[in-house]
Amino acid sequence: MLIRQDGTALWVHAPAKLNLFLEVLGKRADGFHELETLMVAISLHDTLSFTEEPTPAIRLHCHSRLGSAEAVPTGDGNLVVRAAKLLQQYSGTSRGVSIHLWKRIPMAAGLAGGSTDAAAALVALDRLWELGLAPEELLSLAAQLGSDVAFFVRRVPAAICRGRGEKIQEVDRPLELSFVVARPASGLSTAEGFRHCRVSSRPRSVRPLVELLIDGRLKAASRCLHNSLQETATQLNPEVTDLITRLDGQPVVASAMTGSGTACFGLCGTPRLAGRIARGLRGSGVPWVTAVQTRA
Ligand code: C5P
Repeated sequence: MLIRQDGTALWVHAPAKLNLFLEVLGKRADGFHELETLMVAISLHDTLSFTEEPTPAIRLHCHSRLGSAEAVPTGDGNLVVRAAKLLQQYSGTSRGVSIHLWKRIPMAAGLAGGSTDAAAALVALDRLWELGLAPEELLSLAAQLGSDVAFFVRRVPAAICRGRGEKIQEVDRPLELSFVVARPASGLSTAEGFRHCRVSSRPRSVRPLVELLIDGRLKAASRCLHNSLQETATQLNPEVTDLITRLDGQPVVASAMTGSGTACFGLCGTPRLAGRIARGLRGSGVPWVTAVQTRA
C-alpha cells in the first residue's frame, strides 16, 4: 500500500493479492474456515483519495475502471464506508471524509479488492483524523471487517496467513514473481466459494512452496501451487475450468485459481512474457486480463 499526501488530500494505492497456496484445515464453530495460505500483494491496484469534510459525513464517490458494466457498490454496501464508520465509532471522532475510489480490481474474483480498499480506509483515516491508533488496534478493526483486511493493514509484500486469514506471518525475504491474471465473465462470492468446500483430510504445508519461491526455483515451486477451493469453484462455475485450460495452453510455468475465485493466474518466467500472454488472451476474448508483478 502506497500513501502520498497532496495538499489536504491523502492518496492511496491499494494493491490486490493472489493466493499462491490455500489449504482449508477445518470448519470452525463460528462458521468460518481455518486456513493456511500464502498471500502476495501485486501491482494491480485501486486508487483512493481521502479529503476531510467539515461535517461528520462519510461520502464515497466510485469511478469504475473495470471496463465492464458491473456497478461498484456505494453506501454501506461498500467495505470502505463500513471501515470509515467503524473507525469513527471506535475512536469517537466527529470528523468526516470525502472519499474517491477508482476501481480497477475486479470484484467477486478472489483478488481481495474490497478488503484492500477497506484497509486503505483504516490506514489513511487514522492519519487524516490524527487518531494515532496502535498497530494492534488497526489490526483488530481490520479483522472485524473481513478475513483478508489485516494482510493489507500490515502492508507487507507477502505473508503466510492463518486462522481465518487474519493471523499474519510476514515472508521476510523478497519474492520477485510475474503473473498473468484473468477473470471470466462471472464472479463468485467468497461465502459461496467456501460454502461447498472440502476440508483437507491430509493437509499440505505451505513451507516447501515458500522456500522454493525464495530461491527462484519456479519449476519446482509450480508443483506446490495449491488451492483447496479450486475444485468446488470449477463445479460451481465451468468458466473457471475453461480459464485454467486457456492459461495452461500458454507458456506459463503453472496456473491456479486465487482465493475463492473466479480469477485465475499463470506464473510466468518474466514480466515481459506475462505482458505478451496477457495481450494474447485479451485478443482471444478473455473478458478481463492483466499482467502483474509482486511488490517489493
Ligand atoms: O471474512 P470475509 O467477510 O471475507 O468472509 C466472507 C465469507 O466467506 C464468510 O462469511 C464465510 O462464509 C466465508 N469464509 C470462511 N472462512 C474464511 C474466510 C471466509 O468460511 N477463512
